[in-house]
Parts: sequence; structure tokens; C-alpha cells
Amino acid sequence: MEVASRNTARLEQELGELLERERFDPPEEFAANALVRDESLHEEAARDPEAWWAKLARELEWFTEPAQVLDASNPPFFKWFADGKLNASVNCIDRHIEAGLGGRVAYHWRGEEGEERDVTYADLHRDVQRLANVLKDRGVGPGDVVGIYLPMIPEVAVAMLACARIGAPHNVVFGGFSPEAVKERMQFSEAKALITADAARRKGKTAPVKPAVDGFLGEVPSIETVIVVRNTGADVEMKEGRDLFYDEAIEAADPECPPEELDAEHPLYILYSSGSTAKPKGILHTTGGYLTGVAWTTKYVFDLKPESDVFWCSADVGWVTGHSYIVYGPLMNGVTSVMYEGAPDYPDKDIWWELCARYGVTVFYTAPTAIRACIKWGAEYPARHDLSKLRLLGTVGEPINPKAWLWYWKVIGGGRCPIVDTWWQTETGHIMITTLPGAQFAKPGSGGRPLPGIEAAVLDENGNEVTGRQGLLALRRPWPGMLRTLYRDDERYVETYFSKFGKETYFVGDAARVDDDGYFWVIGRVDDVINVSGHRLSTAEVESAVVSHPKVAECAVIGQADEDTGQSICAFVTLEGDLEGSDELVEEIREHVAQRIGKLARPKRIVWSDDLPKTRSGKIMRRLLRDIAEGRELGDVTTLRDPDVVKRLDELVKERAREGED
Ligand code: PRX
Repeated sequence: MEVASRNTARLEQELGELLERERFDPPEEFAANALVRDESLHEEAARDPEAWWAKLARELEWFTEPAQVLDASNPPFFKWFADGKLNASVNCIDRHIEAGLGGRVAYHWRGEEGEERDVTYADLHRDVQRLANVLKDRGVGPGDVVGIYLPMIPEVAVAMLACARIGAPHNVVFGGFSPEAVKERMQFSEAKALITADAARRKGKTAPVKPAVDGFLGEVPSIETVIVVRNTGADVEMKEGRDLFYDEAIEAADPECPPEELDAEHPLYILYSSGSTAKPKGILHTTGGYLTGVAWTTKYVFDLKPESDVFWCSADVGWVTGHSYIVYGPLMNGVTSVMYEGAPDYPDKDIWWELCARYGVTVFYTAPTAIRACIKWGAEYPARHDLSKLRLLGTVGEPINPKAWLWYWKVIGGGRCPIVDTWWQTETGHIMITTLPGAQFAKPGSGGRPLPGIEAAVLDENGNEVTGRQGLLALRRPWPGMLRTLYRDDERYVETYFSKFGKETYFVGDAARVDDDGYFWVIGRVDDVINVSGHRLSTAEVESAVVSHPKVAECAVIGQADEDTGQSICAFVTLEGDLEGSDELVEEIREHVAQRIGKLARPKRIVWSDDLPKTRSGKIMRRLLRDIAEGRELGDVTTLRDPDVVKRLDELVKERAREGED
């Protein structure tokens, strides 16, 4: 115990000293072997961005090579490589089979209870074709949406690629979302089939999935087929004519399914993400441009050499990070990845490091929130394992505080691995701002510079560029991997991203600053989106879930700074009539939100409030609520309908805080 605390104190001191260091150059050995060692790619792309992207696109496998590059004739509806034809599954699998690499492991999969499965490219080739045929036999064809609601098991990648093979856009819903949220996403997208599991495992427990899905299928009449992966073997009811077991169906299916030759602009997938209203946005990605950007960034940002590297992106496949950097990016590059079913602290807090050692992970990509959790658990967990194979680390999802960056660098990377802090969004499809690790130095807390071909800027409200101070992040040039629209809602697409600075400049929704080195420092969201543990949630969506509780009259939700999760959800709640708040009611409301959206959306804190601060026109003043929640001096309250409301609330919250301290 004493030794442990001495070690902790020494580490603290070392990290404290490192805080002084502003830049971290690529280590010599890393740079000597890196794919990119200088600025030449940035320069090449700057000279002719379209030629740059066209060159990258040619690295994909096409049925018909595109002659066109960017079609900007109808902004902001940009098209890329529109006269080319290709198939994503061919790029992820067939090309490697043809190159004789079928025996290479695509995924070292590890189950929660320690089970292991090595899935090769040949395995994927076989199962993807068979599942594609099952879907085809059930009448699913190009353009039909297929929902996927699966845990982190290899079948999720097979399902996505089977959809891609036949041109059916997939709509993956994160396994942590509630059935209610799945239902909504299936309804919005009018999914024709759903691929799901009997049950999911989480930290030693089993949660029924198929029965939960059965609960809503009656309300989604578009779903004609449900394919059920037997994950735990739990007993489930199967509806004749609609439901099929995955294993039986692929066993009986024709083993060959020639890929559809699809237009580059054919939709590859829809992925719902939170926006500033209660209705999630169906972000639509198409094929050729998306694959071009994802393939390139996977290889060059992570400096991947497929023959020797083992890559692990610890995200869930249900988020865009999983789509791009667990499935499409690594597979297109013929890389071996790790996929882990469980939580980072199950069966123990060292499981990630155990797996890194076991599979010889060389490049590891995770979220700052996970790093902060690891810091809390202590450096003794990674110390139990040999992490010497690691050579590059990455982060994504939210700004990383320099202290967490340094801990990651020192404790996980042993001071020898560069860190790439990658900024991007569901909408951008792939990494946009980061450092190329063999060529550029890193600064803890900053993402770095826009990648070649990407033009980012920080603008003021009027669209003028600002340097050295905070402004609004914008992307001033279309890029191939960008979203094409919001599914069936072109108007919201234009309004959300292209109304602030015009139809040529993409409005990101983040505040940022650029420094003298041209390094971007992303500060956080400027809209009503909360980033909890790197997961995007809309205040309006959580509010509408809270308000749907019968005892709640009104609610305002804000994101509050949180040491562990970056931001956490704080809900100010006014109850019906003269109902009184209680601890039981807090739990009831949290559970209600879990059922409506998912556990990740549960408010961490609920503040009972007789009334909410509103402007004279009735708009809730979230800025003031944020000040109250974070204990800041209250700003201007003169525009409020009833300034007393906010003062009473402020006093109440301060009183609670004092009670908490006592
Ligand atoms: O606010 C930025 C933050 O996450 C948002 C995008 O969220 P989402 O679409 O869910 O995608 C997350 C994974 C790509 C951004 O608008 N964000 C993402 N990466 C970073 C970040 N903020 C700071 N630094 C990052 N590296």
C-alpha cells in the first residue's frame, strides 16, 4: 500500500513537471518509420485539393473509376466522384481475398466471459455473402433501410457489410439505447428489416433484447424481417414468417452473393445523432466519398502498417467512431483489429491492458472520458501488463484536459508513443483535425491542424476569421466524407449546417480557437447539445423525456462541467401541482429517462424548482441555469420575466452545496 502511494506521488510530481512542456515532438524512432515524415502532403493538397482527393479515391477498388471529382453545382448538396461505381464490402473484404490475405485476422474478438474468436477476412467474406443473400431472399434490395441493434460481437460487422454488399443502407443503433429509442429510429427511417440479438451481456448480467424489440415491432409495420443472433442462447419467441435465427439462416443461404455495383453517391448508412431539437437527426453518408476519407485517415493518422500493426478502437460500433474506425477504415486497409464485448472495468479494471498485451496491440484509440476513468482507478492496473508493443495512441470525442493527456502519454504510452487527438463528428464521417504523428508535434489539449484537403477556420458571428481568440469553428470547403443530407429532411440539413455562414461553409456547432502555430483548440458545443463521456445528447431530447413523466410539469436541461464525464446532465424540474420532490422521485425520473432514451441520458443531478427563469417571451434562460449549476456569479437577469425565480434557485443550489460540504 505504502509503495503504491509513493508511486502515485511520484507520478503526480512527474506529471506536474510535464505540464510545463508545451509541445511533444514525434519520438525519433517513431518518426523514422512513419508513413508521413514531413509537410509534403499538406502542401500537395493545398495546391489542388480536388486533385488530392481524386488521387486518394483512386486507391479504392472501383467497378467504374470516376472521372468526376466534386460536383458543387447545387450547394450545399455536394457530390463526389458521382460517375464512379463501387461497393464498400468489396473494398473491405474481396480485395484482400484476391490479394491472398483471406487468412489474416480481421478481428481478435473477446467476449465478456473470456471467450475468444479470431475472425479472418475469409470468414467475413463467407458470412457477409451468406447474410446478404438472406436479406435479398427477404426482399431487401438497394435503398431499403436495415436496422441493426446488436452488442459488440463480430456479427455486427458482418451485418453492416452484408447491407453494404446489396446496397441497403444500414441504420445501426447503439446497444445502450433503449428499445423506445430504437423504435423511433426504425420508424423515422422506415426500416424494412432489423438485425438484433436474443440478449446482451453487460458486466456479468444478461439483458433481454429480442423480447424488448418484440414490444415495439407492432408499431413499426415497415419491418418485415427480424434476424436474431443467438448471442446468449436465451429463450426467445420467434414469429413465423417474420423472424429468423441468424445462424440457421446463413447456414441455409447460398454462399455466393456478387456485390451490387453502386453509384459513388449511393447511401451507405444512416446514423442518428442528437441535434438541438428533441428529434434526432438521421445523418446520411454515401459510399465513394466516405470510403475515400475513412480509408486515408485510418492509414495515415494511425500510421498503420497492416502486416505488423494491431489496431484497437475501443468505441462502440453503434457510434460513428465505430463505423469508421472499427469497421470500414481498418477493414479497407486490411488491418487486424481488436473487438471487445464488455466494459472497461469488467471483469476487472485492467481488462483493456490485458487485451493490449495479449493481442499485441500497437495502436490504441479511445476517449478522454475513458482515460479519466483509468486515472481514477489508478496506474497499478496498466502496470500489471506488458504494454511495450504500443507505439501510437489516439483520442476522440471531446476536448482532453492536459493532465489526462499527460497521464495517457506517460502511463499507457510509456513516454514513447505520440498521441493523436482527433477532432471530427458524425457529420464529417472521418477525422478532420489532428496531427500526423510522424510529422507534427503535439500540444496537449489541442487537436492540431486540419488534415490535408480540409480547410477549417474559426469565425466570428459575421463569418470573419479570428485568430488567437475564441470563435465558431467552420469548414470552408466541402470534403468527400461529409454527410450529404439529413435523411428525408433536406431543409433541416440546410438550416442546421449551412444557414449561419452560407451554403459553401459548414457550420460545425463547436467553439474553438486557433493559436500562432495554426493549432486548433476545440472548446465545446455552442448549441444545445451536451457531450457526456463523448456521447452527444440533445438537451431538448432529454427534456422531452423528463417532461413525459406524469409528475413533471416543466423541465430545463443543461450540460454541466463534470470531472469524470466532461459534461453531465443537470435537470431543473418543476413538479405538477403541489407535489414535493424526493429522493424516490429523483430515481423514478432517472429510470423514466433510461426507458425513453437509454441509461446514458439519465440526469446526474435533478434540481427541484418552483419555476424556471424565462425571458419575457417565455424562452428558458439556459445560460443562467448553467451559471447556477456551476456556482458562478449570475450574469444579467434584467431581461427575465421574474428575476426572483433565478435568485431563489441560486440560493437553493448554494444552500444544498453547503449542506453537501458539511
Ligand atoms: O464537440 C465536438 C466533440 O464531439 C462532437 C461530435 O460528436 P459526435 O458526432 O458524437 O462524434 C464524436 C466522435 C467523432 C464535436 O462537435 N469532439 C469530437 N472530437 C473532439 C471533440 N472535441 C474536442 N476534441 C476532440 N478531439
